[in-house]
Amino acid sequence: MQGINFDLSEEQLAVQEAARDFAEKELLHDAIERDTHSKFPEKQVKMMGELGFLGMMVDPAYGGGGMDTISYVLALEEIAKIDASAAVIMSVNNSLVCWGLEKYGTEAQKEKYLKPLALGEKLGCFCLSEPEAGSDATSQKTTAIDKGDHYLVNGTKNWITNGGSSDIALVIAQTDADKGHRGINALIIEKGTEGFVVGKKEDKMGIRSSDTHSLMFSDSKVSKENRIGDDGHGFKFAMGTLDGGRIGIAAQALGIASGAYERALQYSKERKAFGKEISKHQAIQFKLADMHTKIEAARFLIYKAAFEKDQGRNYSESAAMAKVYASEVAMWVTTQAVQVHGGYGYVKEYHVERMMRDAKITEIYEGTSEIQRLVIARSILK
Ligand code: CAA
Ligand code: FAD
Repeated sequence: MQGINFDLSEEQLAVQEAARDFAEKELLHDAIERDTHSKFPEKQVKMMGELGFLGMMVDPAYGGGGMDTISYVLALEEIAKIDASAAVIMSVNNSLVCWGLEKYGTEAQKEKYLKPLALGEKLGCFCLSEPEAGSDATSQKTTAIDKGDHYLVNGTKNWITNGGSSDIALVIAQTDADKGHRGINALIIEKGTEGFVVGKKEDKMGIRSSDTHSLMFSDSKVSKENRIGDDGHGFKFAMGTLDGGRIGIAAQALGIASGAYERALQYSKERKAFGKEISKHQAIQFKLADMHTKIEAARFLIYKAAFEKDQGRNYSESAAMAKVYASEVAMWVTTQAVQVHGGYGYVKEYHVERMMRDAKITEIYEGTSEIQRLVIARSILK
């Protein structure tokens, strides 16, 4: 008989523990310093590759871990609990780059690009946004003009996570403007391609140790062998890939929220005011109760979306619900965690101020909260 089972399998628990162990040993000690100096976690990203965290769901035939989406969510949560920047670096490589290549790429593309990406030997980035095309993603200005055996790419991509540190870029560009979104292609472009320039690094509010750059293309020649999917399939590739990406960002948000909650819970048992621990004041207890409840609600929305993805069902709506809810929970919980810490929450040492700054981006990238609501509304009204 089939039913609901909320228990994790032994394999899933082992992945969760491995990720927690890695995050506590390798990410925690200099997370504040990396945030302060916007320093990319180069050594830790290399280790994540070696531990199999950069290609978790990829078929072992292509160097991946062959794991389910729940395992991936568990690992991302543990890493984001400590360092949300490391989590987004991981999420982009797994969900937006490896997944898209495995699902839509040719055998040759998988051998040449997916394998080193899944093994963590190379890092990837996903380039959809432009200076004038964020939420309105079909308004692509970057062009990929068909020149027979290759495309000539011109334009600027904005806000690209892993933009400076990646070796391989998946770039969305317009080939035939008359066909609208059906004239868009997705191309694999290697760093070092002529005319491919990495622009300035953004100085951000949060996730400061992930690197965000604009990328410029000027008459960059890209072989047709590097097109992902059929001609004109690029927009659907981007949207289909983002459905899974949104589960990853929801897991990142969940990790930020649970990291801040755990710190607030601990602090409330230590800090005394008016002759007793602040956890004995009902106002603080109710905050903790609400934080815990919202985190659990976000967790189950995320698990449901991950489960639907693993079952091969349509998960656009559940991924959007998980992402909008978890990101808003992350923003609310981190704000409360700062409040529980009082003045100490407002300085770097206690981590929760960083978590509050990190939480904000989860309401913006991979589709803003407004765009998630648009996706959900279209789904329920169709
Ligand atoms: N899967 C596959 N195809 C999809 C799809 C999905 N989930 N959603 C839409 N499509 C298809 C539609 O079927 C349609 O094709 P047809 O006309 O052939 O049927 C086509 O895409 C266009 O769809 P819409 O008419 O719905 O397009 P729209 O202009 O109304 O826009 C949108 C839809 C949901 C607003 C979309 O533009 C969107 O998601 N915008 C947000 C962009 C975004 O999330 N960017 C994230 C960048 S990556 C990032 O941010 C990474 C990071 O930070 C770490
Ligand atoms: P806009 O689209 O201009 O939106 C401005 C405001 O208007 C928002 O509040 C939005 O919700 C609202 N709005 C827009 N349209 C509607 C509508 N139809 N209904 C209601 N409200 C609406 N992109 C990539 O391609 N790859 C990456 O790796 C990547 N990484 C990023 C990392 C960071 C740190 C940041 C800041 C962004 C990143 N992005 C990336 C871009 C990100 O996905 C976009 O910023 C996001 O999709 C919003 O686009 P926009 O900034 O142009 O805002």
